[in-house]
Amino acid sequence: FRGGPSPLLEAINRSIGTDFRLWPHDVRLSTQWARALADAGVLGHDEARLIGEGLVRVGDRLAAGEAPTAADEDIHTMIDRLLHEEIGSPVAAKLHTGRSRNDQVATATRLWTLDAVERVDAAVRQLQQVLVAQAERLQDAIMPAYTHLQRAQPVSVAHWLLSHVWPLVRDRGRLADAARRLAECPLGAGAIAGTAFGVDRTALAASLGFAAPTPNSIDTVGDRDFVAEVLFALSLLGAHLSRLAEDLILFGSSEFGFVRFGDGFSTGSSMMPQKRNPDALELARGSAARFLGDLVSLMGTLKGLPSGYNKDLQDDKRALFGAVDAMLVVLPAVAGTVDELTFDVRRTEAACTSAMMATDLADYLVRRGATFRESHAAVGSLVRQAEEAGIELDALPPSAIRAAHPLFGDDAAAALGARASLAHREAVGGTGPEAVRAQLAQARAAIGG
Ligand code: ARG
Repeated sequence: FRGGPSPLLEAINRSIGTDFRLWPHDVRLSTQWARALADAGVLGHDEARLIGEGLVRVGDRLAAGEAPTAADEDIHTMIDRLLHEEIGSPVAAKLHTGRSRNDQVATATRLWTLDAVERVDAAVRQLQQVLVAQAERLQDAIMPAYTHLQRAQPVSVAHWLLSHVWPLVRDRGRLADAARRLAECPLGAGAIAGTAFGVDRTALAASLGFAAPTPNSIDTVGDRDFVAEVLFALSLLGAHLSRLAEDLILFGSSEFGFVRFGDGFSTGSSMMPQKRNPDALELARGSAARFLGDLVSLMGTLKGLPSGYNKDLQDDKRALFGAVDAMLVVLPAVAGTVDELTFDVRRTEAACTSAMMATDLADYLVRRGATFRESHAAVGSLVRQAEEAGIELDALPPSAIRAAHPLFGDDAAAALGARASLAHREAVGGTGPEAVRAQLAQARAAIGG
């Protein structure tokens, strides 16, 4: 080029505001690249050592808060500049031999992502532990379970809590799966066609903790599948957190009154002294939109690209870092909220009205030999009678129950008890007390550690 870049290009091109945080990974991969070049006979081992020592000092400066200058386009060029400052140009200028920022940024981003997945995993696990600890305390408490947000059937509070643990088990599985697939090292793919120097990519990959080198240089420099996979895993995790938050926000309303939010994770109102607002849960629910937005943003970037590296890909990190940063704030806040919750178990039990045991009453007839269809009709007529009389199902006189079907005996009313309903549901995955005890053990094992 005869002239320098326009300031307008620099403004759009500059990514250091986003990618600065990649520096520890870039320093690490650059150190290993210098070693690999030395092993290949391209650099002298003394030169590689000098580069390694220089990079340690560069890392020290960055850790101490070294700020980018206006001329630093991205973290890779900044580290290159600092290395020149530390060890001087003849040797520093050899580091970039046989590599490109294309394989470099892909490697640094993968290393960062592997680290991020571990941090997110630990935070999800923390939330799981808090949910399981509450479930252990609340095995004997009962509450309504809802379908269509209508009272459906009674369940143990532990069973409801555990229903939010299993989606998180799957989320962690998705993150682990993404991490396993992304553990291939891009370095050595060069700009597009591979490196021209005899670098042992397998040894290089191992030195950076990767399982293997990537198999195709063209694919490697344009591949951001790992970003998409992690963003999808975070989006779904975000949807699960939103659902948990929404359940709890409802349960904490005066109308439900099932839970009370602790002081640490709720706020008062500047005007209304009686308020106790579940802000952390509302922000968690709202954040689900951001994770989805980051995923859609990345997919939009990828969908029109030709193969190989294109600068559009620079935007992957904005989406990835934004989503991970938000998730690492949301997860501890949700865990803290759940940890501080107190359940009003008298209220949750009182909400299990006898109409919710209509199915159990029909099951009673089935156990005595009636078909489910005729049982459903008989109990349906009782539900109608109770509704017309404006009373609960269990307030109907025994004579009315007996009149509804010849197989009803004097013990029929016992079938309308919520705890009797739970006791029948001991099949695996059900809300029976023994089944929930087994489920708790299964959840503890799935969470690990
Ligand atoms: N900052 C760039 C990015 O994040 C680094 C790669 C630049 N490569 C290039 N061919 N200009 O994607």
